[in-house]
Amino acid sequence: MADAVSGTESLREKLKAVLGEGLLLTAQEDMQRYCSDWHGDVKSSAVAVIRPRSTEDVSAAVRACAELGLAIIPQGGNTGLVLGGTPDDPARQVVMSLERMNAIRAIDADDFSAVVEAGCILSEFKDAVAEQGMFFPLSLGAQGSCRMGGNVSTNAGGINVLRYGMTRELVLGLEVVLPDGTIWNGLSTLRKDNRGVDLKQLFIGAEGTLGIITAVSVKLYPNPEHVETALLGLSSLDDAIKLYRRARRECCDLMSAFEFMPPVAFTLAIEAIPDLKMPIAGDYPAYVLMEISGSGLVDTADLMGRFLEGVMEDGLVLDGVIASSRAQAQSLWLFREGMNEGQALRGAHMRTDISVPLSKLAEFVAEAEAELHAKLPECLSVSYGHVGDGNVHLNVLPPDGSSREERDAYIYKSKVLVNEVLDRYVGSISAEHGIGRLKRSDFEARLPEVQRTMIMNLKKAFDPEFRMNPGCQITLQADS
Ligand code: FAD
Ligand code: LAC
Ligand code: ZN
Repeated sequence: MADAVSGTESLREKLKAVLGEGLLLTAQEDMQRYCSDWHGDVKSSAVAVIRPRSTEDVSAAVRACAELGLAIIPQGGNTGLVLGGTPDDPARQVVMSLERMNAIRAIDADDFSAVVEAGCILSEFKDAVAEQGMFFPLSLGAQGSCRMGGNVSTNAGGINVLRYGMTRELVLGLEVVLPDGTIWNGLSTLRKDNRGVDLKQLFIGAEGTLGIITAVSVKLYPNPEHVETALLGLSSLDDAIKLYRRARRECCDLMSAFEFMPPVAFTLAIEAIPDLKMPIAGDYPAYVLMEISGSGLVDTADLMGRFLEGVMEDGLVLDGVIASSRAQAQSLWLFREGMNEGQALRGAHMRTDISVPLSKLAEFVAEAEAELHAKLPECLSVSYGHVGDGNVHLNVLPPDGSSREERDAYIYKSKVLVNEVLDRYVGSISAEHGIGRLKRSDFEARLPEVQRTMIMNLKKAFDPEFRMNPGCQITLQADS
């Protein structure tokens, strides 16, 4: 133990000698927030937290770590939900936080593109873009904290995927520091470029296992000046999916969000944000928060009005409210955002991030929930999310008053149960959050050999010493 501590101290001194104290945090209390996850489920430590100010700093730090045999955990806003950005081997790992590299290098409204550093907070980037009448469509509950490099590295999804795609579809180019310290400037803003293999795709969704993203060039869209937001009460998830299909046909591709919430969503959101008032009279078995948006000559209010009239006449939607102002729309969205925090407040729980084909989603949720109720009747299941993308967060909350050990047992049992049902539907265990360390063994257990070989060959080509985020996504030997 004493040796490990003095070994860590000596590594810190060597890092300081090469990089200077200004780039490093080494005191336990300073490193704490970089070494625990968003939910506070995991608390770890590291040799140091390195906070570069420039791409050259990142390159120098990567080379210094290589010399000292240190592994690097890249980190953005540390809002990831799968333990990909926090260390698990404190004596051999450093956290590389990109938070100081937060400049917006260019916003070009004429070119519908922008270049931004990896450490820029997503909402700050969106605000700066909006000031120029433009729109960056990536939208998620963590947008006030997550950072662009983290968004790209997780290929984040969120509420606007159904219209604009995942982060991958928004990225035009990347600047990356490779595991040997080489800087690759691939910050093109070209829309079409078919010169061979599209290398940037390898880093998108790689969760920091192949290199450190230092900047990104992205697509921008015209700012949607007209946004209609409606909260709708329905009979079932099945009806919600029927509604989604109909909206895709009737709303001229202008639907920008379609989120499903069960009734308990409102209870959870109010537990997190007590000022919230129920926005809709009456109780319904299912709710949809839907948005239509457009710019220019399009009349979205008329479209939403006519669409809702039709679906209410047909009995698909039982009741609904349309926000009459931006402020009211935002307060509707607070229910959707607050329900995550409400679940976190109820203590450690099982979180999933599942996708199945849209046509199977309602059946999958019904089957998984029925098995949960039969085998773990004391738990609360909460299924919600981006159902238009076939993506549901089917979470399981252990009963109040459970000890940490009891919670861990519930989390494990419910995860196995839900994954068994999911496998029958040939779905994905990660629709948007990634694999990280939390889902690694479930990922590896389902990885066909040919796919594992390709991933390992790629990893060895970029990072032969396995120093970039080791233990995230994949291990040298498959987990048993
Ligand atoms: P971090 O958590 O810091 O890192 C995530 C991963 O990326 C780690 O593996 C890390 O090593 C790697 N990484 C970070 N920066 C870099 C870099 N510069 N170069 C290389 N690797 C890097 N996700 C969704 O997809 N959709 C949602 O709707 C959604 N909603 C959320 C709501 C809440 C309340 C919370 C807490 C999280 C939510 N998330 C969601 C998950 C999370 O916010 C996203 O995954 C986000 O993209 C992570 O960004 P970050 O900057 O916090 O990354
Ligand atoms: C959401 C996160 C959990 O959709 O992905 O709220
Ligand atoms: Zn989500």
